[in-house]
Amino acid sequence: MEKVVGGGFLKLMDGKILATLFYEPSTRTRMSFESAFLRLGGKVVSGADMAGASSARKGESLYDTGRVVSEFADLIVVRHPEVGSVAEVAKGARERVASRACVVINAGDGVGDHPTQALLDVYTIWKERGGKLDGLIVGMIGDLKNGRVPHSQCELLKHWDIEFVFVSPKALAMPWNVKDDLTAVGRKFFETEDLGSVVGGLDVICATRIQAERFKSAKEAGKYKGIYVINALMMKKAKKSALLLHPLPRVDEITVDVDRDPRAKYFDQVRNGLCLRMALMAEVMGK
Ligand code: NCD
Repeated sequence: MEKVVGGGFLKLMDGKILATLFYEPSTRTRMSFESAFLRLGGKVVSGADMAGASSARKGESLYDTGRVVSEFADLIVVRHPEVGSVAEVAKGARERVASRACVVINAGDGVGDHPTQALLDVYTIWKERGGKLDGLIVGMIGDLKNGRVPHSQCELLKHWDIEFVFVSPKALAMPWNVKDDLTAVGRKFFETEDLGSVVGGLDVICATRIQAERFKSAKEAGKYKGIYVINALMMKKAKKSALLLHPLPRVDEITVDVDRDPRAKYFDQVRNGLCLRMALMAEVMGK
């Protein structure tokens, strides 16, 4: 897929249609899925503003939407602000009485999960580290309570012998269900509010933004504005071999002067995500 992204198209999804149903803002994830499917040779129907411009406005259930869209598309990618919403669309899509099942992929369900982002993050680490993940110390920084990306990253990374360092304000700590899942498979984690004191020990630094849209008010979210800023000075403390990841969009977590630091991998992640999603969609479509 890396080669195809360099400038070609495949015919793997010839005759197939992907529908994207996005009930929350997105730039990367939707365009990444859509261009990945186009590169695979398929066609795309795009629901970029499902919250504002779909029959959801008329009160249609997610189940019904899934059932209906499964008649149009072979594959559905959904993003929605509520946990469990994508599973609801999938329930409807599975009811389709036809020779082929309609596949549904989660592109982010509220504070729940964002599995393909975590997959592309793991792929990026795997690529940069020559396939070796065992023994790494991975730091996750920011709004670990509301960030679905760190939740999904833990879900995947727990399969390697990795130690976790969670950096967040106490009120935005990693939820217990995620930490319990790590403990259950014997993974260790350490929690702190102070990035400066731990950054030098991290092999991978996963920055994320404060998820302002999940707070009761802008004022409440504003309390945490600028709480962790990774600038050139902070990167001086980090290991020479460290990797700096961010799912993007960034607000103020990483200053632009860090972009030229060879350890900054957030724009590489975007390209890796495209290839990863091509591979994933080919796989789930049985190709
Ligand atoms: C993330 C998301 O939507 O959860 N963005 C993305 O998909 N690259 C991260 C975020 O919005 O903070």
